[in-house]
Amino acid sequence: MKLSIISLVMATTALLTSCRPAGADEPAIIPQPVDIACHNGVFVLKPKGHITWSGNSEAAGVAEYLAQLLRPATGYELSAGEGTDGDISLIIDTSLVWKPEEYILEVAKRRVTLTAGTPAGLFRGVQTVRQLLPPEASGNTVVSGIRWAMPCVTVTDYPRLEWRGMHLDVSRHFFDVGFIKRYIDIIAMHKMNVFHWHLVDDQGWRIEIKKYPRLTGIGAWRVDREDQPWRSRQPQQPGEKATYGGYYTQEEIKEVVAYAAERYITVVPEIEMPAHVSSALAAYPEYSCTGGPFSVPPGSIWPITDIYCAGKDETFTFLEDVLSEVMSLFPSEYIHIGGDEANKTEWRKCPHCQQRIRKEKLKDEDELQSYFVRRIEQFLNSRGRRLIGWDEILQGGLAPEATVMSWRGFEGGVASARSGHNAVMTPVSHCYFNIYQGDPATEPLSYRGLLTLEKVYSFEPVPAELTPGQGSLIIGAQGCLWTEFVTDGRGAEYMLLPRLTALSEVVWSPPEKRNWEDFSKRLLMMTKRFDSMGLNYSKASFNREN
Ligand code: ACM
Ligand code: ZN
Repeated sequence: MKLSIISLVMATTALLTSCRPAGADEPAIIPQPVDIACHNGVFVLKPKGHITWSGNSEAAGVAEYLAQLLRPATGYELSAGEGTDGDISLIIDTSLVWKPEEYILEVAKRRVTLTAGTPAGLFRGVQTVRQLLPPEASGNTVVSGIRWAMPCVTVTDYPRLEWRGMHLDVSRHFFDVGFIKRYIDIIAMHKMNVFHWHLVDDQGWRIEIKKYPRLTGIGAWRVDREDQPWRSRQPQQPGEKATYGGYYTQEEIKEVVAYAAERYITVVPEIEMPAHVSSALAAYPEYSCTGGPFSVPPGSIWPITDIYCAGKDETFTFLEDVLSEVMSLFPSEYIHIGGDEANKTEWRKCPHCQQRIRKEKLKDEDELQSYFVRRIEQFLNSRGRRLIGWDEILQGGLAPEATVMSWRGFEGGVASARSGHNAVMTPVSHCYFNIYQGDPATEPLSYRGLLTLEKVYSFEPVPAELTPGQGSLIIGAQGCLWTEFVTDGRGAEYMLLPRLTALSEVVWSPPEKRNWEDFSKRLLMMTKRFDSMGLNYSKASFNREN
């Protein structure tokens, strides 16, 4: 029998505990709050509604954000200003003890009061306000004939995990600043707080570095083979022009970082090393073992043998210069240095690398990679930053302060936590949103495998085998969106949604509050919100066999 999500919902609604009086609509908030109590009545937004803020001038930005969010669809002249008597009142109250990002929302018939210890808490609460309003409220053009009402509720809420991330690969395909902001808005709507920006990979270097202009002059561009399958694209031929690509200027990077900060999202830049850097080596082949020449590959390359030379001190000078400019643009405590999938064939042949192994008394090329990462970590630490890398940085020994991003499974994160290091879980099995989410016969071309919405929802980021102390070192989890097969923003939205919606509940809500049937029901309301925002999302999970 084919069960649609709707019939599933109808079959299970009766089993769910209801917050509303019989016959009234259930609030449909995603991620599910820690606690929600429903009361009789509704609050109705007035055409000249006033939003006040108090307690911290940074709250002014959140009040203005809320007004801006609601003006387009309501057409109302909503105003925002300092005070405590608004129709919607945002209050920072530091006299109470709050958990990070915690908020309390009180929707009463006459007014809405949102209280938090920090502006970030207020911002998360605003996302709940938005979800209590009709989904049309999130649209960009005036919608008439709607009563802009919210059910009266009291919500107490805070996140389960500290790192609630979403990644985007902008190397395999480039996405302009307009889309990056939209992506950040989608992340923000889901109460996520980290945008992991994968700015460097073989197929394109995407960040302007003033000291090394060829990184973008050459490294950001490849020959256009977009009409050919990713895995069988011929490399650039002599005389061919590299015309396909793009990059972000430093001004654009600052604009994105500021935009994210206004949404209490940290942008973690990823500057890959020692592998996945063909784009950099095409521009500066002297930092490889062989000296090149190289070109920016227009499609897949495997294995990745042309990597930075770990024997030449010049490589480290170059990387420190690059990272210095990166740190001047990104206030993030964490800097992601990649570290994945380095094939060490050239290191085995390279006299510089072999000399380094002897001089540093390293056992092998794995330990040379560990030396590389430790050296970069020392540099980042000396500037007050922390290193995070993919789980291959465990090979040859983990750098003393490093945080592991566990992607090949849970094992890297477990090993990291067991050795007293922080870890972020993003296992391919549950978090790689570039994998098909439904039947490949009807889905856009993507990675082999299947990662359904329900599988994402079933993700448990803290493995049971860890002790509570070790478990607390799993600081969070994130979704990854690699873009070999995602060529534009519409495509990215489709792969992201609604799997991000499921992940948001995994990382935010208390595990005991998670309930797939209940989520499926709330998701219907969320998809109406996506519709009003013109977002492209997959309905693959709506037509499953089971
Ligand atoms: C990765 O997917 N290579 C981190
Ligand atoms: Zn070398």
